[in-house]
Amino acid sequence: MRWTERQLAMLREMGVPSFWPVTPAEAGLAPAAPAVAAAPSASAAPSAAEGALAVTEGHAAAVPSAAGPAPQAARPPRGPVAAAATATASPPAAELPLLGPRPVGIDTMDWPALREAVAGCRACSLCDSRRQTVFGVGHTQARWMIVGEAPGEQEDRQGEPFVGRAGQLLDRMLAAVGLTRSEAGPEQQVYIANVLKCRPPANRNPLPQEVAQCEPFLLRQMALVQPDLIVAMGRFAVQSLLKTSEPIGKLRGRVHEVAGIPVVVTYHPAYLLRNPADKGLAWDDLCLARELQARRAQARG
Ligand code: URA
Repeated sequence: MRWTERQLAMLREMGVPSFWPVTPAEAGLAPAAPAVAAAPSASAAPSAAEGALAVTEGHAAAVPSAAGPAPQAARPPRGPVAAAATATASPPAAELPLLGPRPVGIDTMDWPALREAVAGCRACSLCDSRRQTVFGVGHTQARWMIVGEAPGEQEDRQGEPFVGRAGQLLDRMLAAVGLTRSEAGPEQQVYIANVLKCRPPANRNPLPQEVAQCEPFLLRQMALVQPDLIVAMGRFAVQSLLKTSEPIGKLRGRVHEVAGIPVVVTYHPAYLLRNPADKGLAWDDLCLARELQARRAQARG
């Protein structure tokens, strides 16, 4: 989707200027793009939304490998600007982590037990380098659940997901669709969690073994929250949740399903910080998610 000056002006009016590209060039706009009628809204979601709302299921099980498909964009070296999803290359096979036993009974744990199990987990060697585990934040009965990749440095320090620069963009993205991580009711307050609960050293890519060891925690969080939908952000979250090696570009724009929960995929905020012209695509994805949730709320009556 391309953005007209008028749409951008209306978004600014809506008080969400910083999520969106601020100049036509940043927005990927041709200078002479014709104006269109209205600011984006749930009802102005992509015209393909109807078709996109059909749930897509059953991707071939293919745990993403660190050396997997080309990412949505090459990850730049870690810097103060880059957030958790930027990473260095995976370690050579000789340095692959040793795996320990995973806590038992994760799939029946309640919130306190699950939080405690994550905090004490030593199922992979990330426990040796982490400052602390990063469990999740938000409303435990949220309608929207956001799933990211792994804690970065700030998250490792603070014990909360998405608190770095990417997290600030995520907060603006959420605000643009009337959502927040701060205290609110389950309709407005989201629940945010990562695929990995521990920071990979130097923010390298998560390894398939680490993802596999950590997965039951996320699945239990999903089962406890029972959100209307999950928004999976970034290649690792998307590929590990959907068990696919397809790139985000091929997966977005339709609704997937994991453990009976609809999943909408979109770009990671850290990627959007590096590629602001793609914020319009992320907006389309949020509109799709919003449309989907409105339908589910309507169906509930
Ligand atoms: N990126 C993520 O995917 N998760 C975080 O918690 C922070 C950055």
